[in-house]
Amino acid sequence: MSFEEINFHFSPAYRLKNKYGDEALVSLYGAQVLSWIPRKTQKESLFLSPLAQFEAGKAIRGGIPVCFPQFGSLGNLPAHGFARNRFWKFHKIEETSEHITLSLILSDDVETRALWPYTFEAVISVTLELGTLKTQLSVRNADQKPFSFTCALHTYFNIDDVNSVQISGLEECSFIDQVDQGKKKEASWNKLKINTEIDRIYENGSKPIVLQTEAYKLVIASEGFTDSVLWNPWIDKSCNLKDFPDDGYRSMVCIESGVITLPIKIQPKEQWVAVQILSIE
Ligand code: BG6
Repeated sequence: MSFEEINFHFSPAYRLKNKYGDEALVSLYGAQVLSWIPRKTQKESLFLSPLAQFEAGKAIRGGIPVCFPQFGSLGNLPAHGFARNRFWKFHKIEETSEHITLSLILSDDVETRALWPYTFEAVISVTLELGTLKTQLSVRNADQKPFSFTCALHTYFNIDDVNSVQISGLEECSFIDQVDQGKKKEASWNKLKINTEIDRIYENGSKPIVLQTEAYKLVIASEGFTDSVLWNPWIDKSCNLKDFPDDGYRSMVCIESGVITLPIKIQPKEQWVAVQILSIE
């Protein structure tokens, strides 16, 4: 097991390694996981854009951005909320013989309260186990009034070739099609191939999703996250994203675990917790 603080571009970051040799890198900026290399595949599982901007105030394109307290533009806050654009604080590190867990914390301050007038504590805990990466988000209401929020762990998977991946687990779910005016659409009943721009919010109630690549199978499970988002910008949108290569759409797909369609409401002193579990098989 090892745990090391390094400087990664403009922010401190933490390199985690478990006794099996699985490794992860987590930035203090955004509490964003930027790398996960399981020993089993010895390959980077998360996509980090080679043109990602490492600059305070901007979101890092890749890894696992934390969208909180708003998903996308479903509200008045900046896109995907403010958590991905802020420096979190080191909270704790826990090690057992089997795993290592790093926790980072974000609390309200003058700037967050100007955007979102609540006192809160959000904690991201990243656990590295054999072939498994768990990312837990917990949110505690430290205010005297209830608040509501939406959120997601916006996971960018690194793939060799978008044409050869297949996604299953979502075929029975209806979805909101964000590339077709937010229309609600019925389940397709087919395993998914990505061959065009895709931006869908599935109400899938936390069923596991399988991403089958040529090299390995990755299972995305979750507890507490009730929706899943599937996103690939495809050709035109890739060309319009300045922190993303024109052909970047070939090497990534986002499968995000979130709570989007029915916001979470928590009362004073209450805490809400959800976890995304990625496993290589
Ligand atoms: C996805 C959204 O979660 O994130 C898409 O469903 C959005 O609509 C994408 O384009 C990327 O968002 P951003 O703000 O990181 O460019």
